[in-house]
Amino acid sequence: MSKRRLFVTTALPYANGSFHIGHIMEYIQADIWVRFQRMRGHEVHFVGADDAHGAPIMLKAEAEQITPEQLVARVAAERPQYLDGFHISFDNWHSTHSPENTELSQDIYRKLQANGLITRKTIEQFFDPVKGMFLPDRYIKGECPRCGAKDQYGDSCEVCGAVYAPTELNRPYSTLSGAAPVMRQSEHFFFRLSDPRCVEYLRGWTQDGRLQPEVANKAREWLDGDQGLGDWDISRDAPYFGIPIPDAPGKYFYVWLDAPIGYLASLKNHFDKGQAAAQTSQTYEEFVSDPAVEQYHFIGKDIVYFHTLFWPATLHFSGRKAPDNVFVHGFITVSGEKMSKSRGTGISPLRYLEIGMNPEWLRYYIAAKLNARVEDIDFNPDDFVARVNSDLVGKYVNIASRASNFLSRLFDGELCDVHGLPAWQALGTAQHTDEIAACLEAREFGKAIRLAMEYADRINQHFDAEKPWELAKDPAARERLQQVCSICIAGFQALTVWLKPILPALAARVEAFLGAGPFGWADAGTPPARIGRYEHLLTRIDPKQIDALFDLQDSPAPAASTRHKGGSKSGSKGASADAQDTPAAQQAIGIDDFAKIDLRVARIVAARLVEGSTKLLELTLDCGEPAPRTVFSGIRSAYAPEQLVGRLTVMVANLAPRKMKFGVSEGMVLAASWEDPSRGEGIHLLEPHTGAEPGMRIS
Ligand code: 2FM
Ligand code: ZN
Repeated sequence: MSKRRLFVTTALPYANGSFHIGHIMEYIQADIWVRFQRMRGHEVHFVGADDAHGAPIMLKAEAEQITPEQLVARVAAERPQYLDGFHISFDNWHSTHSPENTELSQDIYRKLQANGLITRKTIEQFFDPVKGMFLPDRYIKGECPRCGAKDQYGDSCEVCGAVYAPTELNRPYSTLSGAAPVMRQSEHFFFRLSDPRCVEYLRGWTQDGRLQPEVANKAREWLDGDQGLGDWDISRDAPYFGIPIPDAPGKYFYVWLDAPIGYLASLKNHFDKGQAAAQTSQTYEEFVSDPAVEQYHFIGKDIVYFHTLFWPATLHFSGRKAPDNVFVHGFITVSGEKMSKSRGTGISPLRYLEIGMNPEWLRYYIAAKLNARVEDIDFNPDDFVARVNSDLVGKYVNIASRASNFLSRLFDGELCDVHGLPAWQALGTAQHTDEIAACLEAREFGKAIRLAMEYADRINQHFDAEKPWELAKDPAARERLQQVCSICIAGFQALTVWLKPILPALAARVEAFLGAGPFGWADAGTPPARIGRYEHLLTRIDPKQIDALFDLQDSPAPAASTRHKGGSKSGSKGASADAQDTPAAQQAIGIDDFAKIDLRVARIVAARLVEGSTKLLELTLDCGEPAPRTVFSGIRSAYAPEQLVGRLTVMVANLAPRKMKFGVSEGMVLAASWEDPSRGEGIHLLEPHTGAEPGMRIS
């Protein structure tokens, strides 16, 4: 097997929010594949970066009264706890807001220009005269031209389903300032994807069999659709947080032009820091243009267009090597519920780690669900517990604990040579090793795990059939006892090698136990000569941890956070002992901290008792958004539902949604109460003065 040379990335996450479970799933998928390639002895450079540019990041920073750079830095500082926490082994993490990316993006643009593929056109677009900026569609709302519904987004109506252009909205307004936008002309730069050279090239790249079949089909629809490939608008006008377009004052690259170039920027940064030198003597430029290097991008199904059309064309027509492939995955749902990309409901990866759940349980479960197709996968809590506890612990880890007991007690930890034993040969370890390698290579992780677990079943059956606990009583059966247990441990080592890309930390503990390693792929077929002292390798999931993960409790009291010193998330490490013990007056925060809280006026349009809860009311809140929100609030002792309907209150609109026993709570209403209940137990909802309207921001 010749040594492959691999450049691998995951999609670059926007730098305006924390990772959600969808990001972690993608990183786990790519990480497993990369770790497998490393175990095979291949050269791998696995890089990521923050996708730092674009209007939403600029506007979010502005709302927080910080610079975009400060926002990006704050988010970047959060990344390691997730990446380290879930054992994601990136070789480098960088940013698209970097000198490397500026230089590469501008260079690529110049090459495209020299190639005759950049054109300029004057377009008309909505402009916010108060903010002084052109408005991306998502910041324009108005009345639906078909049904008249108010507050509809610029592209479609959530009430009647009509699809239209922002210019068709009646009474359009800017969601940034409330002002009526005006039409204004501006010159934009376009990548001429409609050029026959591009169309021909992309037809070849997308249809030559490299892509997953469903991805290739989608690309064919885009290429052969009625409209064909349109030219791609790659510029945005100031103010914009992005990379300046050379020789075009006030013009910036649209974020999607420089985002994938960030893959190269991170790779270059990795090389320039000298980190690649352990694997290659090439420079970044030599490596990236070497035809022998394979370039792969793991991405979600929502960004296929950018990665199968724009990105290969950008690279190819700027004289660079195009990617060898993109590996597309579906979305992850949690108990069948779709997750919002921006709000990321479902499981909080950070909470998962904070409450001490083992990251490898999740790696194992996600791997067990993944295949090479573009299918959504579901995280089902009961299935999660069952698979980890019965497969991983009950089948795999159990082998080591059962067999090591006899080997340590009766044979001083020594194994016999298993190679000539029929029972060992019958297991077919070498064939399994090849089949599992083929599955991992093809990203058929679920199938790899099924094969491994079948093998584990057979070892356990062998152990049960031989009844070592009885052999141990018979001095004449000593040799047979050692053989049975040696086969078990030899098989356990093979399993450990196969599962190591998925369970790297567990594999390291096994390596210590077997006094071997670090295991490469070939070690599946080289059983150890002895074992060390068996230490507990992996605990089972306690179903209580699942309750903690989903916050399944009756009294989160999402109203009146003042009732709960140190924060309303009981059980979360976020409420540190320090915070709880310090008088409120001493916990000064800066305006930046305060600005992080999105407080809005909300109208209570419905209120209900919650069956099974003595503390909660379920509130339906109009907070100026197209759809109302549901909030569970611990105010039942203070209000009857009918007292509340129609009243205005104040809500925290950007609190991460929390899954509770009764449903998902999408915010928190604010109420006042004494910290010291001996002064009175009343709870009083906040209510703004007359004239306030749902959706207004409180600052
Ligand atoms: O969809 C997203 O989250 C983008 N930030 C992905 C960018 S991938 C690459 F092009 F940088
Ligand atoms: Zn409508």
